[in-house]
Amino acid sequence: MARSALLNVMVQAAMKAGRGLARDFGEVQNLQVSRKGPADFVSNADLQAEKTIYEELKLARPDYGYLMEESGSQPGVDPQHRWIVDPLDGTTNFLHGIPFFAVSIALERDGQIVAGVIYNPALDELYAAERGTGAFFNDRRMRVANRSEMSETVIGTGIPFMGHGDHVRHIREQHAIMGKVAGIRRPGAAALDLAFVAAGRFDGFWEHDLKAWDMAAGIILIREAGGFVSDLDNRQGMFDNGNIVAGNAKIHKELMRIINRANA
Ligand code: IPD
Ligand code: CA
Ligand code: CA
Repeated sequence: MARSALLNVMVQAAMKAGRGLARDFGEVQNLQVSRKGPADFVSNADLQAEKTIYEELKLARPDYGYLMEESGSQPGVDPQHRWIVDPLDGTTNFLHGIPFFAVSIALERDGQIVAGVIYNPALDELYAAERGTGAFFNDRRMRVANRSEMSETVIGTGIPFMGHGDHVRHIREQHAIMGKVAGIRRPGAAALDLAFVAAGRFDGFWEHDLKAWDMAAGIILIREAGGFVSDLDNRQGMFDNGNIVAGNAKIHKELMRIINRANA
């Protein structure tokens, strides 16, 4: 697969930050057994990854703006372009020595996401897409799954946790879905969960209370892989209301229907 210069910049930045995270992840496993624990170390690893990405992107496109999880938003000289970055998605996994975390970088042009890269350094799995040119998994073309029977699907989600989200609503939604599907998964890194939909590993996904940096790259991956992504009202308000539903045309529609009915 011949990548555009732009996508190359994004892949280089994600992989450089990812290699740093992979090294730090090794250290987390040592610190796990120490008395102090790895929490401070992990927050430094997170900040370091963000710094690496910022610098790599700045070098290549000095005028673009940023929306980054740790340092917030930084307008660019160029008002059309904005990087949306989650340097470490799946922090809780990382902290617990679970090798399921990722770097996520997206590019927005005039309010539309036009490119996205998600990299899981622990598995060396790279997902990349640019508008109009398809989506790729480690350089191979990827497509969303084509299952159309709910009973055959594996659906990903995010379960709210202490101090976050609406626990009762989640239980209601999960209850409505669990009896209709082959399985529900909660791997713990929303960016990767969305990449799994793009790669056809998950047939669908839904979650509430996500941020733009959790979703931006995954959204373009899924679209370019032939899938559908929206909020629960079938609108493109994901960054405003934080909820997202994804899948192929049939599963996306069916998930929305089941969830909305559960909440009615
Ligand atoms: C979190 C993960 C998780 C999702 C949380 C996010 P973080 O991101 O994506 O899967 O359920 O809502 O905050 O904090 O690990 O970057
Ligand atoms: Ca995140
Ligand atoms: Ca994060």
